Amino acid sequence: MKAVVFGAGGMLGAGLCDEWEGRVGLIPLDHGQCDVCDRTRVREVLGSEKPDIAVLLAGATNVDRCETDPLYAFRANSLGPSVVSQVSRSLGVPVLFVSTIAVFDGDKTSPYTEFDDPSPRSVYGRSKLQGENAVRSFSPDHWIVRTGWLFGGGEKDSKFVPSLLRKAREGGVIRVVRDCVGSPTYTRDLAAAVLKLVDTSPFGLYHVVGGGPAASRFELAREVLEAAGYDPEDAVPCQSSEYPLPAPRPRMEAAESLALRLLDVDLGMPLWRDSLKSYVRTCLHSLLR
Ligand SMILES: NC(=O)c1ccc[n+]([C@@H]2O[C@H](COP(=O)([O-])OP(=O)(O)OC[C@H]3O[C@@H](n4cnc5c(N)ncnc54)[C@H](OP(=O)(O)O)[C@@H]3O)[C@@H](O)[C@H]2O)c1
Repeated sequence: MKAVVFGAGGMLGAGLCDEWEGRVGLIPLDHGQCDVCDRTRVREVLGSEKPDIAVLLAGATNVDRCETDPLYAFRANSLGPSVVSQVSRSLGVPVLFVSTIAVFDGDKTSPYTEFDDPSPRSVYGRSKLQGENAVRSFSPDHWIVRTGWLFGGGEKDSKFVPSLLRKAREGGVIRVVRDCVGSPTYTRDLAAAVLKLVDTSPFGLYHVVGGGPAASRFELAREVLEAAGYDPEDAVPCQSSEYPLPAPRPRMEAAESLALRLLDVDLGMPLWRDSLKSYVRTCLHSLLR
């Protein structure tokens, strides 16, 4: 299989390319190499490479910036998928689009399934839902994969896990919200799972998240600290109302893979707690205690 990967320079892009290396003919493209809103460039790449699949990971992922700068959000998260899916359709290339559980309002008290109705509250969630809708309407040959709280990436990244460990190294108490619940998911596990998904499952919408029970941000922080050799008691729970942010955060961002269960497909997602431990210990050396 040959795959063109749009947004390969991001956290998931790096994990996916590492995981797929040697198993898939990869054409990884970062933002500088291809802007997904540039129809001419997208057509040039897909037309010349003639891949078996277009993997769309590019996105505007700073949710607070999305809230205050909607053009940033809608350009990458809605227009980009629209361009990629239209060009892909015209060339007969199936699309794999990675979306988010933030398309839901977060009011449910149990994990969201593919059969719940999306009703996003943030600009980020709305822009990703419009991206999904564009892929659905322009390219019938698609897999839309909604995933949970991703972890992965390097020691210098500004993502949740390395940022938390940098704070732990500085010392003192780390306040983490307890009233937001999600499904932590390792980028490499997701990458392995979606490769299996495209091999085994019909086109459609799927939730794919780390194995094991959902966790609050606070519980996730305790796991991270423990895995890195810090005292988990360094994390102190707080309420999200104590930390007003530009973008509303759904209280419930956990997901269940009900569509896959109904199809009797097991993607073999490892338990996120096991993946988190080995990720922290093998990829974040300089941040360990
Ligand atoms: N992180 C999560 O917890 C999470 C959860 C659910 C779903 N997702 C989805 O998963 C995908 C990957 O997320 P991630 O965590 O890897 O985010 P990331 O690290 O921010 O990567 C996104 C990449 O997309 C690039 N990009 C932005 N606009 C682009 C454009 N117009 N054309 C081409 N590339 C563009 C960014 O480049 P620049 O940095 O140069 O802008 C960045 O390299 C996103 O679509 C996101 O919505 C993420």
